Amino acid sequence: MVAPSNAEMASAWDGDEGAHWAAHAERYDAAMGAHRPIFNARAAITATDTVLDVGCGNGESARDAARAAKAVLGVDLSAAMVRRARERAATEGLANVTFEQGDAQVYPFRPASFDVVISRAGAMFFGDRAAAFANLARALRPGGRMVLLAWQALHRNDWITVILDSLGADGSPPPGAPGPFALADPDMVTETLVKAGFRNIGFESLDVPVCLGADVDDATAFAAGTGLGRSLLGRLDETGRAQALARLRNTMAAHATADGVHIGSSAWLITARARPVDLVEPRRGSGGDPARRGFVRIPVLYPGEAATPPGVA
Ligand SMILES: C[S@@+](CC[C@H](N)C(=O)[O-])C[C@H]1O[C@@H](n2cnc3c(N)ncnc32)[C@H](O)[C@@H]1O
Repeated sequence: MVAPSNAEMASAWDGDEGAHWAAHAERYDAAMGAHRPIFNARAAITATDTVLDVGCGNGESARDAARAAKAVLGVDLSAAMVRRARERAATEGLANVTFEQGDAQVYPFRPASFDVVISRAGAMFFGDRAAAFANLARALRPGGRMVLLAWQALHRNDWITVILDSLGADGSPPPGAPGPFALADPDMVTETLVKAGFRNIGFESLDVPVCLGADVDDATAFAAGTGLGRSLLGRLDETGRAQALARLRNTMAAHATADGVHIGSSAWLITARARPVDLVEPRRGSGGDPARRGFVRIPVLYPGEAATPPGVA
């Protein structure tokens, strides 16, 4: 099931965009080669962890987690990428990772069934962020961890601005709109996550380059073939397209090194904990009613947090 607010994203990711990602899985993974070890280090998965990878795509981060974890579930809107993720896990003989096509905003995760939620650039596309993060908070056990990689603002991400500029884009997405930059504003993200049931929210700036290709031709072809590249080039006539591709090639040449074409990026590593609840004193006078006997669950308070009376949401 896909939430109506994610219908447009689903038609892109479960359509042409997802097909391109599935067909070029290794290229997209290589683009994140510098981010990968740092993201995995922050995720810090251990052998007892049950992990949820949100927007897992072709499954690299889920497979990385599976090598350390007890079990991993990857969820993604794209059937093509889920297929690719399953194939790659099978090829590597990873038996503790499963992949499901679904919308993480409304996916019926078993409550409190995950120790860690991870997402490498997969949690910025929700049409209803409040609902989506509340769903993820419910899926985490109380006190469970969430580690997200999300892009900072567009102007801090040359790897996209150079493509936009070379291919003649006009304007940029409105701040906060679902898409790559939706989680760029720490204040907005903090407010959203707190309302969704997260605490201990932290932001760490991750400033490492994105690798767009092995050499100038490779990077030009890759950038032109992405969804962004195709949509911008598709608006131009033949002459305009040739000029835009020449500009793109010059830009890639300016960033070429012996190890490939690397262009600067800035991401947030966002960490948070699902609000813990503790078992406290027995409820008095509940008599023989088994539903009411036993313990009352109340939120554990963090320093500085206002007290909420037990039973009040
Ligand atoms: C930029 S890609 C990142 C893929 C992967 N995490 C990686 O690092 O290669 C974003 C992914 O999020 C997925 N996605 C977007 N919205 C989603 C949603 N509501 N539920 C599940 N997956 C979603 C897309 O299908 C896509 O695979």
